[in-house]
Amino acid sequence: MTMTTQPKLAEKIGEAFRTKFQTEPTITRSPGRINLIGEHTDYNGGFVLPAAIDKAVYVALAPTGSTACHYLAVDLNQEHEDDVRSLKNIEGHWSAYINGVVDQLQRKGFEVPGFYCAVGGDIPVGAGLSSSAAVECAVVFALNDMFGFGLDKLTMVQLAQKAENEFVGVKCGIMDQFASMFGKQGHVIRLDCRSLEYTYEPFVSKDIIVVLMDTGVKHSLASSEYNTRRQECEKGVALVKEHVPGVSLLRDVTVDMLDKYVKAVDENVYRKCLYVVQEIQRLLDGCEDLRNNNLPAFGKKMVETHDGLSKLYEVSCPELDFLVDEIRNEPDVLGGRMMGGGFGGCTINLVKKDAAETVIAKMKEKYLAQFGKELVTYQTTIMDGTSTVL
Ligand code: GLA
Repeated sequence: MTMTTQPKLAEKIGEAFRTKFQTEPTITRSPGRINLIGEHTDYNGGFVLPAAIDKAVYVALAPTGSTACHYLAVDLNQEHEDDVRSLKNIEGHWSAYINGVVDQLQRKGFEVPGFYCAVGGDIPVGAGLSSSAAVECAVVFALNDMFGFGLDKLTMVQLAQKAENEFVGVKCGIMDQFASMFGKQGHVIRLDCRSLEYTYEPFVSKDIIVVLMDTGVKHSLASSEYNTRRQECEKGVALVKEHVPGVSLLRDVTVDMLDKYVKAVDENVYRKCLYVVQEIQRLLDGCEDLRNNNLPAFGKKMVETHDGLSKLYEVSCPELDFLVDEIRNEPDVLGGRMMGGGFGGCTINLVKKDAAETVIAKMKEKYLAQFGKELVTYQTTIMDGTSTVL
């Protein structure tokens, strides 16, 4: 995906909107995200290092003039009708990402008028690039703009996350929505998920590119297992808290505390918590590597993260493990790991630019031989977060 295709996508969604609803929309773009390191740390009060990418969702929106809503999913060629006074919540249906946002706005006391909405874009669904967070962010941004609710970006992020937590039912952390909304071209966001303080760290290299390798496995198990992981982390905190009352998140917990208070009581919870505690520290060390421009050291940490996610946290799958095993000893790949919630989706890899074409061709061949299916890859660049484009 090149930058020039992005305005074309906005045009396409706008055109579909006009044809269907016979009125002029505003169009909002909200991107997908990558995360360099810091996985499953956000809901534990740790740090993450995401960035918004050059793949995005576009939302075209205009008021209906009544309480009726009419949505169009352009890429799926599906429609949905609703009413702001009695929003439907259909499990697993794309309308939930729009209605979830309306529901949260209403809970905050805003009166949301009915609206026409067309959604589409080029973030592959189920690839772990947070297409759902992008839809939520685009919708809240567009509604806020159109109806003048006066919300700031952070409030919109929190509202979008709550929509996913409460309406969709996935107890996700704040990373995806934050990255989509706050992304900045050429920078990763170092976000402290407890204080919500953040800094932009430059991430541009002449020689290294970010390559995503998509297993093609849709992360369908992810939502139920995701919620289970959260409970396991909370259980670990509760066990430590019996002895160290000041502890409220895994961010406060050390390996020593886990060894003393969790290991003997619940081996499974111990392994899950150990991964998180190690990952929070790994991210901080990784940020030092980036500041020292030591990408090889950073790449090694990405592989360590993968091993933790696979063996301790148990959110990987054979396809993800295969892709990481294959790049482990590849001199032109500095590091790689599964990215996002897990159970499918993409790996993220730092690849030497000159060798990228050869590496990708080799990986595609190996993947086909192993799993009998094509490996789709994306070279991503880091772009700005949510904005109105037309
Ligand atoms: C999903 C969630 C995020 C985060 C990641 C794992 O993408 O939506 O909040 O927890 O998984 O790091």
